[in-house]
Amino acid sequence: MHPLFEPVELGSLRLRNAIVMAPMTRNRAAAGDVPSDLAVAYYGARAAAGLIVTEGTQPSPHGKGYCRTPGMHSDAQIAGWRAVTAAVHAAGGCIVLQLMHCGRIASHHNKDADARTVAPSAIRAQGRMFTDSAGLVEFDAPEELATAEIAGVVGEYAHAARAAQQAGFDGVELHAASGYLPMQFLSSGTNRRHDGYGGSVNARLRFVIETVEALTGVMGAARVGVRICPGNPFNDLLDEAPAATYAALLDALSPQRLAYLHVIRSPLPHLDAFALARRHFSGPLIVNDGFDFAAGNAALHAGLAQAVSYARAFIANPDLVARFQHGWPLAAFDRKTLYTTGAPGYNSYPAYEGGAPG
Ligand SMILES: Cc1cc2nc3c(=O)[nH]c(=O)nc-3n(C[C@H](O)[C@H](O)[C@H](O)COP(=O)(O)O)c2cc1C
Repeated sequence: MHPLFEPVELGSLRLRNAIVMAPMTRNRAAAGDVPSDLAVAYYGARAAAGLIVTEGTQPSPHGKGYCRTPGMHSDAQIAGWRAVTAAVHAAGGCIVLQLMHCGRIASHHNKDADARTVAPSAIRAQGRMFTDSAGLVEFDAPEELATAEIAGVVGEYAHAARAAQQAGFDGVELHAASGYLPMQFLSSGTNRRHDGYGGSVNARLRFVIETVEALTGVMGAARVGVRICPGNPFNDLLDEAPAATYAALLDALSPQRLAYLHVIRSPLPHLDAFALARRHFSGPLIVNDGFDFAAGNAALHAGLAQAVSYARAFIANPDLVARFQHGWPLAAFDRKTLYTTGAPGYNSYPAYEGGAPG
């Protein structure tokens, strides 16, 4: 019995198996931050997954951080994404759009000239990012969002959710992990506000709660997921008490009957994010980080989650589900082409072609 191959329902999402393709930024968007034919082929080839969560996608030009990431705010982007969802649906798959607003993890070199870099507080992240025009540069010094501007940012997410519907997506996932804007609001180190969006744990949650409500207002709660990674210091993030922050967040989200919560294993040894999620969130869980086929089955068998997501394994194995089914070996991916342009390292990995198992 391999529960990874069993169909599962996450809210209104009907998955033909419990193997989820986790979101991965691959920096192949064309001019105008439009997903190209390369993305149509890439996602279409992986449609046997029970669910695909797309790469992080900016809801507005201000939300863009990295170079060549796709957006969901223009007609051309909607058309580009429509071709992606059509390819996945034609192959019998299910696909949600991950909405990723990078906040302070951004460089103006990667953005439109009039796009801003904003954050809950004007605290610059330590670190550098790659840009096509200037190479490696320091993160921007962000502008603190004025209280009156926050509803506008939440509105950008709602607008993107409507665009995702027009593009044929089955749902959306709010990226509230990895040190981007929602996590910047959640965390005590990056949120020094005292205006109702910061100051207490409940105030730090408010931006995420309002954003989730905006998304569910558009899509219906049963088509909205949220991704978290409690305590992750990635992108210069610090929260003094992540267990308390995420317990409060999940207590607030749980009654909303979302499609799912996507939980990444916490890198903090004393924080069991999966147990915390089970305790404080009553809906379906997708668990992630470092699972192989056996560990994924074991997690489902133990009742830890309803589905398991795989990121890196999908890069060089478009047919990951078939490889799991047949016990075929997994191919390794090339790090050098993770974030480069064009098909090499993106659409150049073939399905399993036989040969000696290795
Ligand atoms: C190339 C690459 C790009 C990623 N981009 C995103 C992203 O856009 N959004 C996100 O939530 N996580 C992103 N992640 C994190 C993965 O979704 C996942 O959490 C991580 O790789 C651990 O899962 P795995 O052990 O199955 O690879 C990325 C990971 C990789 C390797």
